[in-house]
Amino acid sequence: MKDYVELFNASYRRVLEFNDEKKKFLDRFYEVFFAKSEGIADFFKHTHMSAQKTMLQDSLFYMRDFFLYRTTNEYMQHMAKVHSKSEKNVPPELYDIWLDSLVETVSEYDPEFDDDIELAWRVALSPGITYMKYMYDKF
Ligand code: HEM
Repeated sequence: MKDYVELFNASYRRVLEFNDEKKKFLDRFYEVFFAKSEGIADFFKHTHMSAQKTMLQDSLFYMRDFFLYRTTNEYMQHMAKVHSKSEKNVPPELYDIWLDSLVETVSEYDPEFDDDIELAWRVALSPGITYMKYMYDKF
């Protein structure tokens, strides 16, 4: 039996908590994500990217919480509103590309990366992504 909570937590710690290269991980994520399509970079034309990277790290923490406790939090609500149709208007299908980009980046930075770790990240972030997609037109 695989414990995907444990696999995810261990990998998360390796790439985002106990990693001196944490900043590089976040830089690399945006590089991979932007390379997936020109349209994606356009969303961030006026964005202060270093602040954005810190927010991404925080948001992964709250996405993890949502997966672990299945209870929404104010941060998730705020994030969903920012991305929704009424604000940044992020089309729901871009979240799958976001997750693929994140997994690709983890594969480069987690020395223990394998299929189980990949699945653990996908399982762990799916509830938060479902939430964000669902809230697209709810504001
Ligand atoms: C579940 C996946 C995602 C997470 C966790 C996430 C996280 C965040 C966070 C924390 C913010 C800052 C919110 C604030 O202003 O307080 C943000 C802003 C933003 N995100 Fe995302 N995001 C995700 C997916 C996406 C996708 C797929 C796109 C599509 C291109 C996107 C585009 C943006 C844009 C344009 C902003 C606003 C940047 C600005 O203020 O200039 N995000 N995101």
